Amino acid sequence: MSVTTRPSTRPLRVLVTGGAGFIGSHTCVELIEAGHEVVVVDDLSAGHELALDRVREITGTRPVLERVDITDTRALEAVFALHPVDAVIHFAARKAVGESTEIPLTYFETNVGGTAILLAAARRAGVHRIVFSSSCSIFGSTGAADLDESAPAAPANPYAWSKLTCEQMIEQSCRYHDEQRAVSLRYFNPIGAHPSGLLGEDPHGTPRNIVPYLAQVAVGRRERLQIFGGDYPTPDGSAIRDYVHVVDIARGHVAALDHVDDRPGMQLFNLGTGQGTSVLELRAAFAAAAERDIPYVVTDRRPGDVPRLVADISAVRRAWSWKPEYDLATMCRDTWRFQEAHPEGYGR
Ligand code: WQD
Repeated sequence: MSVTTRPSTRPLRVLVTGGAGFIGSHTCVELIEAGHEVVVVDDLSAGHELALDRVREITGTRPVLERVDITDTRALEAVFALHPVDAVIHFAARKAVGESTEIPLTYFETNVGGTAILLAAARRAGVHRIVFSSSCSIFGSTGAADLDESAPAAPANPYAWSKLTCEQMIEQSCRYHDEQRAVSLRYFNPIGAHPSGLLGEDPHGTPRNIVPYLAQVAVGRRERLQIFGGDYPTPDGSAIRDYVHVVDIARGHVAALDHVDDRPGMQLFNLGTGQGTSVLELRAAFAAAAERDIPYVVTDRRPGDVPRLVADISAVRRAWSWKPEYDLATMCRDTWRFQEAHPEGYGR
């Protein structure tokens, strides 16, 4: 079958699953500002409908919201019928490493089952461009090396296994359907918030990820940070991650749409900064941004965690000239601006 390679630099209609979530809502802003039209599919189990109002405050446009669970085939098919789109950006997933060790099958049901259902519904609707939200966690425990796309996958927890499995499903689908093109983006640790202070990270319930937890300690909603593990083989004993600004990650998705037709099949890119930061260093950076102390206690390691995950981003810099614009101090400052302005997040 001949492949119609549409130059994706022209305005596209994009369906964004999980678009009311942290990375999804920031990506809606960048898509709209790049001239694309956005339809959001989100069941609001982790996202916030108010985030879409904030997208309108920033861009002047409120994305259409279809409140749908991505595991609901009929509902998804109805969305594709109502909204003919050119591409799908797929964020909707459960994404907490620790939680995935507690409810592994729920992670596979939502992340793997939901992705399979979405891919099939998109194909039946004639939508053949996919940008997938993958994760550096598929690399597992990697030692000292920075990670490029050729590093072996060694998932260390059910969340990571679910993301690797989704990548393989997408790659197989592209292999046997010439017209399908995809990009999988393996993010490292997205943190920060839109500089307006209107959008930010506000997980439902107790935050599993460190930065929203840090922000809630700083604003007085939580007593102190628990640092999971002080005996890792790292300079200060706490685990190292590659924290990357969520706006940089969002812009990476706009670039992925511009490049999804560069070649057949599925492309894979790591999105990070190439800079490693320990948990203790992150706490100190956040305390400096919030100009207050952040009490903490060092506790046992968290199941599923690994000592170090830092990206080698030379491939994406070479292919797309995408590069991170914001440093750790900016990530912390932008996070704090949102949290200080909205102590209860989107809640009230
Ligand atoms: C970071 C570090 C914890 C909470 C995340 C996302 C995942 C993926 C990869 C995109 C670890 C420590 C945490 C706390 C702590 N990103 N920590 N106290 O596990 O690296 O995974 O990035 O797909 O979706 O979850 O992020 O923020 O949970 O942990 O000490 O209260 O902070 O042990 O070393 P993680 P995280």
